[in-house]
Amino acid sequence: MDNKRSDALVVFGATGDLAHKMILPSLYQMVRRGHLSEPIIGVAFDDWSIDQLADRARDGIVTQFGQVDETVFAKFKGLLRYVSGDYKNATTFAKLRDALGGATHPLYYLAIPPSLFGTVIDGLKAAGIADHARLMVEKPFGRNLETARALNGVLRAVFEEDAVFRIDHFLGKEAVQNLLYFRFANAFLEPVWNRTHVESVQITMAEDFGIAGRGKFYDEVGCIRDVIQNHLVNVLLLLAMEPPVTSSSDDLSDEKVQILKAIRPLSRDNLVRGQFDGYRDEPGVAAQSPVETFAAVRLFVDTWRWKDVPFYIRAGKNLPVRATEVVVRFRRPPVALFDDVATAGANYVRFRVGPQVTIGIGARRKAPGGDMVGEPVELDAVDDTTDDMMPYERLIGDALNGKRQLFTRQDAAELAWRVVDPVLDLTDQPAPYAPGSWGPAEAMKDFAPPGGWVDPQP
Ligand code: BG6
Repeated sequence: MDNKRSDALVVFGATGDLAHKMILPSLYQMVRRGHLSEPIIGVAFDDWSIDQLADRARDGIVTQFGQVDETVFAKFKGLLRYVSGDYKNATTFAKLRDALGGATHPLYYLAIPPSLFGTVIDGLKAAGIADHARLMVEKPFGRNLETARALNGVLRAVFEEDAVFRIDHFLGKEAVQNLLYFRFANAFLEPVWNRTHVESVQITMAEDFGIAGRGKFYDEVGCIRDVIQNHLVNVLLLLAMEPPVTSSSDDLSDEKVQILKAIRPLSRDNLVRGQFDGYRDEPGVAAQSPVETFAAVRLFVDTWRWKDVPFYIRAGKNLPVRATEVVVRFRRPPVALFDDVATAGANYVRFRVGPQVTIGIGARRKAPGGDMVGEPVELDAVDDTTDDMMPYERLIGDALNGKRQLFTRQDAAELAWRVVDPVLDLTDQPAPYAPGSWGPAEAMKDFAPPGGWVDPQP
């Protein structure tokens, strides 16, 4: 596959939830910014008219941005086509071929359940419209290592690896990109970014809402599969990887893969699972569900740089705030010269990944007064941009351009499962926690990085 820009975007699952909430609003934004002028062809089973699809898009845009710019919307609608049909029928793909018109190297976006990937890919191939095309696929990328491998087999039977774009929308976030940028665009971090100076790393992804009507989906997935195996392991990789030789996507993936190989697969004693009270009463959730809505894990990266430094990750639904944050905590000074709290509440780098984006350096300074007594301060770089690109906007744009840096390569997608595989599908009951708390307090009592968890502030 060359670097030629794709000349059409085809969205399978165009009437679905993801298209409504994320994909269509992102495409509208791309049109607004002048980043998209190719045809957008929605495909789905529903027997909709183009106006119905446009109305659905409008609704998603209003929900996302609060308003619609009619001039932009008219342009966006002008690009929109719709093909309805069953993915099992050859006629659906014949209609799609007609809708593609003169487009010869489209981007196919599969915003559909993975169980349908094979059917759609076979349909594309049989219709003769898979050649010179790109394929973008949504998570969940399998349920475990075995199914991820099988799924890769399905994709790779028709598409070359460099034509496959596996999405993790976290990698499209401005702040997540900044982790990589901040680490490798500044030289001052490198001398201390290792086991000699770093005591622990912690990543918290807190959400102050429950499963938001997604009971059936969530109860088949749980917290580890939903956000740890993908989003948060990807954040860890950006913190832990060695500097790549160049910023090319293969060089980046090579370094990520090295770290993935070095992460010890999870064991039960490096895991706490929790479930919020009331989860089992949610529609779609099994009455005795053992699925976790909260998980905290302790990972070790057995490389020269990181050996024995604990990487803690915790994530949960119905926690007190909505925020994702990374705290890299440094070791204390060897001697406490001034006060015995020496570095309490200090000596760290904090990356706020969302909702607001911040990079903070925690230090201690002398408190005004006669005594040599200190207080913690944080030096913050706050990003106050209000027109950030949505992750999907950035990712779809990159896939159209054949830019692969923000997508997951096949070996990395599989190796990430290897890390969590031993603790998937546990059947014992997770520890209960009250909605609005920081997870199961009793079970978490002794499960914390040295110096404790830092709870992100609202
Ligand atoms: C999704 C998960 O992948 O990421 C959701 O399925 C989660 O459960 C969401 O809420 C969080 O993404 P963001 O971009 O809102 O932080």
